Amino acid sequence: MEAELSKIESEARAAIESAGSEEALAAADNQFLGRKSGKLSAVLKGLRDLPADERSRVGQKANEIKAALEALIAERRQKLSGAALAGRLEKERLDLTLPAASHFRGSLHPLVQADRKMRAIFTRMGFSIASGPECEFEYYNFEALNIPHDHPARDMQDTFYLAPGVLLRTHTSPVQIRTMEKRKPPVRIIAPGKVYRRDSDQTHSPMFHQIEGLWVDEGVTFADLKGVLGHFFRELFGSEARLRFRPSFFPFTEPSAEADLSCVFCGGKDSRCGVCKGSGWLEVMGCGMVDPRVFAFVDYDPEKYTGFAFGFGVERIAMLLYGVPDLRLFTDNDVRFLEQY
Ligand code: PHE
Repeated sequence: MEAELSKIESEARAAIESAGSEEALAAADNQFLGRKSGKLSAVLKGLRDLPADERSRVGQKANEIKAALEALIAERRQKLSGAALAGRLEKERLDLTLPAASHFRGSLHPLVQADRKMRAIFTRMGFSIASGPECEFEYYNFEALNIPHDHPARDMQDTFYLAPGVLLRTHTSPVQIRTMEKRKPPVRIIAPGKVYRRDSDQTHSPMFHQIEGLWVDEGVTFADLKGVLGHFFRELFGSEARLRFRPSFFPFTEPSAEADLSCVFCGGKDSRCGVCKGSGWLEVMGCGMVDPRVFAFVDYDPEKYTGFAFGFGVERIAMLLYGVPDLRLFTDNDVRFLEQY
């Protein structure tokens, strides 16, 4: 009997010590100390069949072994749960010294940035912002701007017609008419917005942006036009920027001019400059004094009022401002291009 006890004890000790998990330990506990089928419990149950003196000796020994095994189990359980906790802590460890996950910061599209810069310069000069529809009547896009019926710009080849008499505006000049219809002079506005033409290559896109300018009041002269535009380009490209006016023609201005900007890349010093083709000048906008025939359409007295108007492409200026070689980059939506701005 006692030999049996010793055997159970050493088996139990071995099982407890080799238990690698809390579950394995619980199984060993049950195997040896379990009330119903535990090996040690079976011995204790058999005690009553022993003679009295032997019973107390063996009983005492059995109880000592039971207490020792219980203590051993408790100790082992603590170790295993400690190890489990340590394992979890190790596995779920947070390295607080790692840099935080960075998030991408968006930025304004270069065209939006250029547009805001240009608006800001004009608003500082007292211009307010006007707008008109992109889907326009022929009357505002052509008729009231004194553009004759046989003018090439009216051709189906150049213009997107939506219905007879209705088209996608080909320039922002119709906003001149819409503004003057609504307001008496003085008028001093810019009209930024989208325009549409049947054009598509490296420097032309079927949709692009223009900014229109109009200043009408008593005594406005061509000198005011030169002053305003000169200031605008010096603000945009720096004090070195020069403007040159070449006689030109628009049906809605008289006299009319093309304004050229001194080359922002070579300053006119490089005869092989790819941007100005060695001429030193870049054509940037159309402008002129508002034609009295336009005033007639909006009921302004041409004897009393004079004014100037100008219009230019935002993409063209933004290309010069940021050194962008191809207009299509603005609409390709390639982040490698966009994130540079
Ligand atoms: N609307 C003209 C164009 O798109 C530009 C312009 C505007 C010219 C105002 C003169 C005056 O080409």
